[in-house]
Amino acid sequence: MDLGGKNVVYLGGFGGIGQKCVQELLQRQVKALAIFELAASDDILAEWKNKNPNTDIFYQKMDITKKSDIEAAYKATAERFGHFDVVVNGSGLMNDRLIDLTIEINLLGVINSTLTALEYMDKAKGGKGGVIVNISSVAGLQPTAIMAIYSAAKTGVTTFTRAMANPFYYARSGVGFITICPGFTDTELLENIGSKMTFTFETPMLALYNKVKRQTADVCAKNLIKAIETAENGAVLMLELGEIHEVNIPNLWKPQMED
Ligand SMILES: NC(=O)c1ccc[n+]([C@@H]2O[C@H](COP(=O)([O-])OP(=O)(O)OC[C@H]3O[C@@H](n4cnc5c(N)ncnc54)[C@H](O)[C@@H]3O)[C@@H](O)[C@H]2O)c1
Repeated sequence: MDLGGKNVVYLGGFGGIGQKCVQELLQRQVKALAIFELAASDDILAEWKNKNPNTDIFYQKMDITKKSDIEAAYKATAERFGHFDVVVNGSGLMNDRLIDLTIEINLLGVINSTLTALEYMDKAKGGKGGVIVNISSVAGLQPTAIMAIYSAAKTGVTTFTRAMANPFYYARSGVGFITICPGFTDTELLENIGSKMTFTFETPMLALYNKVKRQTADVCAKNLIKAIETAENGAVLMLELGEIHEVNIPNLWKPQMED
């Protein structure tokens, strides 16, 4: 998809990866950009507006754990932009001590945001189609014991997004789905992992995790935007240390049919 002239919604646009993605989107001259975030970041917003007078940039306060916030944010965006072509679900929290919140933000929030966005984008409901990009994680590709709750939530995001990409749905709605799985990326999310692990006791995994190579948010964002431009519906893409790897997850269960 050529992003120039498109209307984009970015959830988590003031976060570490989010800010860099927004900068990439602005460079591509998107027509309009809605940022759904927990709190305003007035200085960043003012700078983006100043430097990009041709893009309609607007901030919408949204706590992704509140369905009413999600619904209000998309409604306000549809009223302002007319339609939107791209949604990036990029909010997130890594803190396994906060079990409910981890599931609410990382999984339930992504599901509610996706289904609400679809109401506006679905061609079968009068929308124009487009693409929804859900940010999972490498912890959403394999069990990650040090952050078992986060890993469960992100695995949910991977599976949910792949299910939404079913060709029957795609043919009907015109909305494609991409799953993005970044490797370790240097942002606030990874700060103090030791105090956010699943258990309070010491584990040998912590020392290992502290040694894992990290990519910068900028490198991750450049590949994330490239992925939106090039990926096919249903793609699961691991963004690791500056490279994009397509992941093929096999179907293990082959249902036996009655005659
Ligand atoms: N940093 C990494 O190593 C890494 C690796 C894989 C996946 N990810 C994922 O990438 C995405 C971006 O993470 P990041 O590393 O930039 O972290 P970050 O902490 O810098 O950004 C997270 C964003 O989510 C927003 N957010 C948190 N709670 C929210 C809520 N209740 N309602 C609305 N917004 C909320 C924050 O305001 C922030 O903008 C997340 O989905 C994260 O899980 C990050």
